[in-house]
Amino acid sequence: MTDWQGLEKKYYMQVVARTPVTLVRGKGARVWDDKGKEYLDFVAGWAVDSLGHCHPVITDALNKQARTLVQTSNQFFTVPQVRLSELLVKNSCMDRVFICNSGLEANEAAVKLARRYGHLKLNGAYEVVTTFNSFHGRSLFMTAATGQEKFHKPYVPLPDGFVNVKYNDVEAIKAVTTEKTCAVMLEPVQGEGGVNVPDDDYLKKVREWCDTRGILLILDEIQTGVGRLGALWGYELYGVEPDIITLAKGLASGIPIGAVAAKENASVFALGEHGSTFGGNPVTSATAYAVLKYIIDKDIPAHVKKVGQYLMDALLALKNKYPFITEVRGRGLLVAVQFESDIAGDVLTASLEKGLLVNQVKPDAIRLIPPLIIGNKDADKAIGILDAVFSGIVKR
Ligand SMILES: Cc1ncc(COP(=O)(O)O)c(C=O)c1O
Repeated sequence: MTDWQGLEKKYYMQVVARTPVTLVRGKGARVWDDKGKEYLDFVAGWAVDSLGHCHPVITDALNKQARTLVQTSNQFFTVPQVRLSELLVKNSCMDRVFICNSGLEANEAAVKLARRYGHLKLNGAYEVVTTFNSFHGRSLFMTAATGQEKFHKPYVPLPDGFVNVKYNDVEAIKAVTTEKTCAVMLEPVQGEGGVNVPDDDYLKKVREWCDTRGILLILDEIQTGVGRLGALWGYELYGVEPDIITLAKGLASGIPIGAVAAKENASVFALGEHGSTFGGNPVTSATAYAVLKYIIDKDIPAHVKKVGQYLMDALLALKNKYPFITEVRGRGLLVAVQFESDIAGDVLTASLEKGLLVNQVKPDAIRLIPPLIIGNKDADKAIGILDAVFSGIVKR
């Protein structure tokens, strides 16, 4: 049998501490490794596989478009790109869309837009306020935007133009807003930072502050958008309308894509001021269109709300049973289980042995981000495995 993991160590840059499993196949919420072992996938490509693995909606759209037209460049008009943009606009509070290839690119575009806005409407203001424990991507610019020291350290000096402040604290944003500020950029719920849910009125207060100062509110919905929180867009849960949103991850359920969408007022790029070779490519756009249309038509966000609550209730029951669980937090199907000590790695390993994939979001917390189409039975199975794992930890 080929030693794929050994070959990876030899040939691939060693930048990710991988879980020692080589996945070769997936269907729905299940994946199989190269030894034929089955797993229930509560990682879903890091909150990407919204419809699960190899859903016919994805594979059919992908196949059909791959046989029709694959890539043209943005020198020309293409139908799937326009259809996807129209679908996004008609189902959000946004007016215009730009499609790219990943989350960080969407955020780069959003911050570029905010800077153009600053140049044109705010006397050259260019600074963007972001928050501690945020995650906005891995380019140098988005590393600077990300409010986590560990990502900054290897790359200093970082590009100028970001101020990081405490999350869930509008006063902290107010304190650093100056005539240089053009925007505030936030996640509706912080994902990579540990699944941090803000107070219900936080985004409203930030919106009010942005309006008072005439600056833009950018919501990074890369992890929270497309149904993950139990609403199509995270901002709906908080009763605000941002000026700009960024999307990626679940939008095409596994095909690489990113998108920035803006209200007309904030949509200030002029010809030639932004672009992409692959962005909005027919294959990607056709797949994203099919995925998003399915999510809207089948009201997957309502399903996520229900199954998310079911999962949350079961996790809270486990919290009552095991005192080393200090908190269960999240919205919809973006959930974290917090432990009192750094046992997340042990929980991950033991879950793996029993056939459940989870994500270690912090040394002392696991994150559950399954496909949006899981049912109560999948939740029961995951809970059963976690229960067995936690009881094993008690016996150690
Ligand atoms: C909220 C958020 N923003 C941006 C990104 C970066 O997206 P990508 O890895 O596609 O560049 C991520 C990735 O985890 C994310 O969770």
